[in-house]
Amino acid sequence: MVELFFDVTYLVQLTKAEFIGQGSGRTVYRHPYHQYLVIKLPRVRNKNWFGRLERKMRFLSRRFGAFKHSILEAEEYTAMIARNNEIPDFVPAYRGMIATNLGIGAAFEIVQQPDGTIAPNLRNYVKQQGMTPELRAAIDAFWDKVVRFRCVVSDPSLANILVQTDVDGGLHLWIVDGIGEQAFIPVSRMFDAVYRHTTKGMRQLFEDKLRKSLASKMSE
Ligand SMILES: Nc1ncnc2c1ncn2[C@@H]1O[C@H](COP(=O)(O)OP(=O)(O)O)[C@@H](O)[C@H]1O
Ligand SMILES: [Mg+2]
Repeated sequence: MVELFFDVTYLVQLTKAEFIGQGSGRTVYRHPYHQYLVIKLPRVRNKNWFGRLERKMRFLSRRFGAFKHSILEAEEYTAMIARNNEIPDFVPAYRGMIATNLGIGAAFEIVQQPDGTIAPNLRNYVKQQGMTPELRAAIDAFWDKVVRFRCVVSDPSLANILVQTDVDGGLHLWIVDGIGEQAFIPVSRMFDAVYRHTTKGMRQLFEDKLRKSLASKMSE
């Protein structure tokens, strides 16, 4: 089956069985025979006049249309490698575009548990387990890596961060959405001080979300 991956004329057939989840803009499926990949299909919106105007005005939308989020993430991933000459282990690798029966999607490496199930997102993980020393350590390690790789995080939502449990029980966080800079003039990319300031803000916003999530668990 592996050869089929390289045959670009072959349409990968996706069914409900491969469905993983849905965010605000994309629907995510497991690749049916590439066990290390997910396929993210953009949901096409903005068909009204306002959406069309927005597309005309905004460079990224004009250039990449509904793929803009996936491409922005792929670009940020590549920039991190170029800058550090090291593969970041907190952002799943971008693996190109794949044609499916449901349309063309962007492929990324999967974040899964040692038993092959999909890693839960941080929001659900915290709801179930609350805060633990292992999770605190994983969160701090994650943000330290974000800063070291100079990764631009634009949406630190708990649903966009997945919690992977290693074979030895340690935790490892991956951000699957909300990286890359969308601004017309990408000032975070351009100026170190702006990057540090915005990222500090994102980290605080993340900690606020985490605190709220833990508080609502306590009051259950
Ligand atoms: N690389 C991945 N590995 C495993 N699951 C993923 C991966 N990327 C996304 N998912 C799952 O799909 C959900 C939606 O993906 P996301 O990229 O956040 O879509 P959106 O851009 O629409 O918010 C995530 O919350 C997560 O559960
Ligand atoms: Mg999301």
